[in-house]
Amino acid sequence: MEFDFATLPAADRYKLLIQVVVPRPIALVTARDRAGRINAAPFSFFNVMSQTPPLVVLGIEARPDGSPKDTVQFPRESGEFVVNMVDFAMADAMNLCAADFPPGENEMAAAGLTAVPSTKVSAPRIGEAPASLECRTFTAVDIGPNGRCILVGEVVHLHIRDDAIADPARLRLDPARLDIIGRLGGISYVRTTDRFDLRRISHAEWLAREE
Ligand SMILES: Cc1cc2nc3c(=O)[nH]c(=O)nc-3n(C[C@H](O)[C@H](O)[C@H](O)COP(=O)(O)O)c2cc1C
Repeated sequence: MEFDFATLPAADRYKLLIQVVVPRPIALVTARDRAGRINAAPFSFFNVMSQTPPLVVLGIEARPDGSPKDTVQFPRESGEFVVNMVDFAMADAMNLCAADFPPGENEMAAAGLTAVPSTKVSAPRIGEAPASLECRTFTAVDIGPNGRCILVGEVVHLHIRDDAIADPARLRLDPARLDIIGRLGGISYVRTTDRFDLRRISHAEWLAREE
């Protein structure tokens, strides 16, 4: 089948795109507003895009009434936020953080997640997360007619749970210990338990293979 994006309704574009661009990592973003309120919410329109500067990018849509989500508002106000990676053990808690809690109610406490002070930013990180990326707001760009925002963060500090570091000298991590999950379409997720290695080859090696 083919789909013409010029005529496909937005809801259908969303439904298809989130099923073909998979698996997507999940950023459980913690942020703090000027009044000190803490917010936590998951986003799977998320990835790392660069190491110099070290940038992470999130696609955040507006609320149905057109107002910005706290995860757009708070990093714009404070200039900071934290991306907490999500492991299998945190899956339920992450999902609860996406529930429509009234403003001011603390999702993290309800989900049983521990707010731990960050090192360089005022927003807390999540103690249970296998890795947390402290970010300064690099830019927040409003795109499209429906209030969607692309939030870009510059990573200024990285925490990795000690047990997930297999070889500190070589900066090798243990993916099994990290146990980070990804999102497929709808309510489906994946674990990173089925892995394989693929060594990069040169053009010369490829030519030799063909002989
Ligand atoms: C796994 C998962 C991934 C999500 N990804 C996104 C996303 O990429 N963009 C988005 O706008 N909302 C996403 N959501 C929905 C938000 O988490 C939800 O709207 C949340 O309440 C936003 O909260 P905030 O207003 O506290 O920022 C996702 C929800 C889940 C459970």
